[in-house]
Amino acid sequence: VPVAVLLSGRGSNMRALVQASRQTNCPFRIVLVASDRPDAAGLTWARAEGIDTFALAPKGIGKAAFEAALDDALKASGARVIALAGYMRLVSDAFVERWRNRIINIHPSLLPKYKGLDTHARAIAAGDTVAGCSVHIVNEELDGGALLGQAEVPIRPGDTPDILAERVLEQEHRLYPRVLAEYVRHMTDHPALLRLRDIVQS
Ligand code: GRF
Repeated sequence: VPVAVLLSGRGSNMRALVQASRQTNCPFRIVLVASDRPDAAGLTWARAEGIDTFALAPKGIGKAAFEAALDDALKASGARVIALAGYMRLVSDAFVERWRNRIINIHPSLLPKYKGLDTHARAIAAGDTVAGCSVHIVNEELDGGALLGQAEVPIRPGDTPDILAERVLEQEHRLYPRVLAEYVRHMTDHPALLRLRDIVQS
């Protein structure tokens, strides 16, 4: 199943997805890496790997025009699923509707806890002893779509947000390829894919 990755930065999760896609029997392949930041490090890596890339800065052209251009690139790539991986921009409701149940995201917290930014600092400040990451379907609510998978890590005494982020990131790199593989397998089992969320949840 052709998958496009959207990112804004370093792209370590994208790299984990690409590496997983090269293993035997992996049911997805990364056909496009797209970014709203033309200078994203993830793009440089993807290009060096010979993966098609698309980059466009939304500044000055407006959200609708930006998303229309992105949508064209996604369609041209043949992608059937979009994996957000450190994509720091909210996708519009119209975009969600066009790709309903076909956009997934990785978030560095145990959702529904700590939607949005600064998840690790908030988990530490709350005195939590467990943190983690979640992969979920993207809907209109920020970090609010159906959960597809989670991984946990301990929060240790003395952890800083950076130390915790590193521990969680390691699990992100394991969780995301696993969940994406499972997700696209459901798609091939159910090519009509009308209500994937219901299929995944049942
Ligand atoms: C990850 O922590 C991801 O969960 C969050 O943004 C970060 C992106 O890191 N959404 P990278 O660009 O994949 O290295």
